[in-house]
Amino acid sequence: MAPDRQARGTVLITGASMGFGRLLADDLARRGHTVFGASRSAPERTAGWSYLPLDVRDPASVRACVAQVAGATGRIDAVVNNAGYVQEGALEEVTADGLRAQFETNLFGVARVVDAVLPHMRTQGAGRIVNVSSLAGLIPLPFLGAYCASKHALDSYSESLCHELLPLNIAVSIVAPGHFDTGIADRKARPGAGIPSYDAARARMYDTIARDEAHAGPPDPVVRLLADLVEGRRRGLRHVIGPDAMMYRVRRLLPDGLWARGLRLALRID
Ligand SMILES: NC(=O)c1ccc[n+]([C@@H]2O[C@H](COP(=O)([O-])OP(=O)(O)OC[C@H]3O[C@@H](n4cnc5c(N)ncnc54)[C@H](OP(=O)(O)O)[C@@H]3O)[C@@H](O)[C@H]2O)c1
Repeated sequence: MAPDRQARGTVLITGASMGFGRLLADDLARRGHTVFGASRSAPERTAGWSYLPLDVRDPASVRACVAQVAGATGRIDAVVNNAGYVQEGALEEVTADGLRAQFETNLFGVARVVDAVLPHMRTQGAGRIVNVSSLAGLIPLPFLGAYCASKHALDSYSESLCHELLPLNIAVSIVAPGHFDTGIADRKARPGAGIPSYDAARARMYDTIARDEAHAGPPDPVVRLLADLVEGRRRGLRHVIGPDAMMYRVRRLLPDGLWARGLRLALRID
């Protein structure tokens, strides 16, 4: 959509059946963009935008979805890689299979969509890619290790991508939210069989997370930020957002040992 800040373009949003993605699709459609929202299940309703079926884990599904967007409008100005889920559990409980599944959606799913849209953006000579990561990708937490690792990898992937695409006039941004009330908390994946050695610390950690989630604010600030990045009103690589965003700055300032002691106290896991 560069260089005209007011331009209305074609936007693809992944993970649009609910949460941030659906609200963003509604918002951008209201602002006059041609919006395609994609996910495995269809949303209950769409307001002025088109739903496309998509499973980011499936290369053929990604190719078909992007081809439909490009076929309908002849261009893809922006993509918001928002599809994702949270895998809970101790890393030993999640196992390598659960870790792989988490990366299939949260990292490789993004990479598949990026690979599919880039030829269109390169031909256009412009584009915007917004990747929805998480504060948990910047602050590794216990019993959320698979999720943290996948979002950490996404953060790193996005920063490398940003360097590579800068000369091609394709902007890359990362949005790293803290807790927001989208209902994602009710859709977490948990490993079937727990290992008793982790029971006490895991239970305390889940209590802390549940308390934080109970105080999570509405998703509107994240939706506004995503819309601003799509439209070019906000720029820059990394946007950490939420009342707990200052934790990221504190983490970067403190030595590892001091941070670890403070974190374990704050999480009440000992
Ligand atoms: N809410 C928060 O507090 C928070 C904080 C930090 C980061 N985030 C991140 O923000 C993004 C959106 O989260 P949300 O809170 O809006 O969660 P949500 O309400 O659970 O929405 C997740 C969306 O992703 C889609 N999705 C999941 N797996 C998919 C797949 N394989 N292929 C295509 N779509 C898929 C889901 O649709 P289907 O199931 O129908 O496919 C759904 O539309 C996620 O990446 C999440 O990690 C959220």
